[in-house]
Amino acid sequence: MAEHHVCPVWVGYLLASPVRKLLQNPNKILKPYVNEAMTVADIGCAMGFFSLPLARMVGPNGRVICVDVQEKMIISLEKRAQKTGLSGRIETVICNDGSLGLDNIKEKIDFALASAVVHEVPDAAGFFSEIYKVMKPGGRLLLVEPKGHVSEKDFETTVSIAEQHGFIAADTPQIKRRRAVLLQKKP
Ligand SMILES: C[S@@+](CC[C@H](N)C(=O)[O-])C[C@H]1O[C@@H](n2cnc3c(N)ncnc32)[C@H](O)[C@@H]1O
Repeated sequence: MAEHHVCPVWVGYLLASPVRKLLQNPNKILKPYVNEAMTVADIGCAMGFFSLPLARMVGPNGRVICVDVQEKMIISLEKRAQKTGLSGRIETVICNDGSLGLDNIKEKIDFALASAVVHEVPDAAGFFSEIYKVMKPGGRLLLVEPKGHVSEKDFETTVSIAEQHGFIAADTPQIKRRRAVLLQKKP
């Protein structure tokens, strides 16, 4: 377990509940940015509420790199991927608070999702810097934070940290109970 405060595993089970789709439908949220055969990343994936729909969207020729700091979340995600026959499209990475462990995939990611994770990350600057390096030029990062945990002001601060690391704010998608911004790496 990481030293920094992270989402407890029991909350991970709640976040993976299919009932959540009524509020936050992964297909509606992600489909505008994801196509067949893309390489995408789900950073702070937990048990895969978004990772499994992403795996369906990228199809058999795509891949989803799922990163989480908690081994138990990743193990549960792997079991879910196996049950749904999507394991072949999913790669998992157990990272640590100081690094996402993605050094080997420079400029390969078409789309990345960071949903409800940045407020748990101790070094947001390092986080965005690492993601920037793995994104393809023009690649997009959907940054989403829960309104219940992250004030408008704190979200603006987070977005400005991302911008300081090269991302450009391209859109502000509307997602229930969430603050969201679509960031883009310069083409
Ligand atoms: C609130 S959950 C959100 C899960 C998922 N993205 C969703 O929206 O359902 C936050 C997840 O981020 C992970 N996390 C926290 N700090 C992290 C870090 N530094 N790097 C990667 N993942 C981290 C936690 O372990 C947890 O699984």
